[in-house]
Amino acid sequence: MDRLVIEGGQRLAGSATISGSKNAALPLMAAALLADGIVSLQNIPALRDISTFSRVISVTGTTVEHSQDAGTLTIDPSNLNRPEAPYELVKRMRASFYMLGALLGRMGQARVSLPGGCAWGPRPVDLHLKGLEALGAEIKLDEGYVVAKAPGGRLAGGTFELNPSSVGATINFLLAASSARGSSRLDNAAIEPDVGVFCRMLKQMGARLSGIGTRTIEIEGTDQLRATSFSNCPDRIELGTFMIAAAIAGDPGSPIRFENADPSHLGEYFVDALRQTNTGLELGENFVEVIAPENLLPVSIETGIFPGFPTDLQAQWTVLLACTDGNAKVNETIYHDRFKHIPELRRMGINAIVIGNEVVVEGGQPIQGAQVMSTDLRASVSLVLAGLVAKGETTVLRVYHLDRGYENLEGKLSGLGATIRREKYDEWADPA
Ligand code: UD1
Repeated sequence: MDRLVIEGGQRLAGSATISGSKNAALPLMAAALLADGIVSLQNIPALRDISTFSRVISVTGTTVEHSQDAGTLTIDPSNLNRPEAPYELVKRMRASFYMLGALLGRMGQARVSLPGGCAWGPRPVDLHLKGLEALGAEIKLDEGYVVAKAPGGRLAGGTFELNPSSVGATINFLLAASSARGSSRLDNAAIEPDVGVFCRMLKQMGARLSGIGTRTIEIEGTDQLRATSFSNCPDRIELGTFMIAAAIAGDPGSPIRFENADPSHLGEYFVDALRQTNTGLELGENFVEVIAPENLLPVSIETGIFPGFPTDLQAQWTVLLACTDGNAKVNETIYHDRFKHIPELRRMGINAIVIGNEVVVEGGQPIQGAQVMSTDLRASVSLVLAGLVAKGETTVLRVYHLDRGYENLEGKLSGLGATIRREKYDEWADPA
């Protein structure tokens, strides 16, 4: 297994390039399955979740080629003949559940493993299933699999309202509805930027969609969706993570620049909260500059759906709060128990306690390097951020969680002046 070893206390400066978005790339890959020919996707990051989903897709008979150097994916669904997503792959990544909508849309049938829980708690898929039923799908559960069928081989179309609004259920609904016989409408659709990017690709393929970027999306089914070439958007969560790194570890007075960035995808809440900490920000069309303040101010946040504060940035924000001189809270309204990072951060001296769905952080306590364990993707990057500002050496174990969603994290942080290296280790070896 791999671990990251960080020597804390280096001041960051310079620039880094943001990679293509993981969470946007996955639905784009699913949309490619609906095309009548070869789809080419650009700005695709080299990440474990992308290779996992490539494998999920290839089980169906679809050809997938990922050129990691060029950042392109070529997907040819011409020979797609097996409408199945097996448990062995789906259990590694929940977004594999997008296969349900894609296969129903393409073949009128699907057998897709239920994803099960995730590291920080239960994550239901009831809305995915109800949405597809509203489109006319007949759904059964069979030995851990969702078996779905469109009567007569093609979905009829229908209307559905999401409550709560869900990114994944929106994607699955639109994948299936785009090739339905009739028209469909989704109310309270997710308006996260990843959904907008996905809708734009579907439209480019010939889907008849309206209401992109709004809470109500209408779609008229079509017989055929065209092959296309489409460029993915930058990763907003990677950008937000690096902006927090710059705020807590940047050299005050010298801006850190992030290229290939789209700050509009972060939502106003995050940007406002970061400004309130006294961090200097310049937001361009495709870049962001961050100037670390001499003293960060404590700012409480509450996660929310877009344009609210992204839940995928709350663990990192907890580390920022630990670098202030006051007390503040992180209130998690989307995944109430997404706090697996807190016991690990406490091992580094951060005084954060979980009360219900809130974390209360007492800033200003010395942060010390320690050995800590990654438990999930965003939790693990919060440990790396803490390592950047800790006194001494921090070792973050089980980096495979991080590799799901951060492309070349140690390379990018080293480029900004951090002292960080990747090592192999044997998790079961006795201490020397
Ligand atoms: C996506 C992101 C994830 C992010 C999350 C919230 C991807 C691959 N993942 O996950 O990184 O943390 O959005 O921004 O893009 N819900 C139900 N029933 C359902 C589906 C969802 O009750 O069938 C609830 C969830 O428990 C949660 C809320 O809806 O409280 C939003 O979740 P959702 O938007 O579906 O998250 P994901 O699409 O799984």
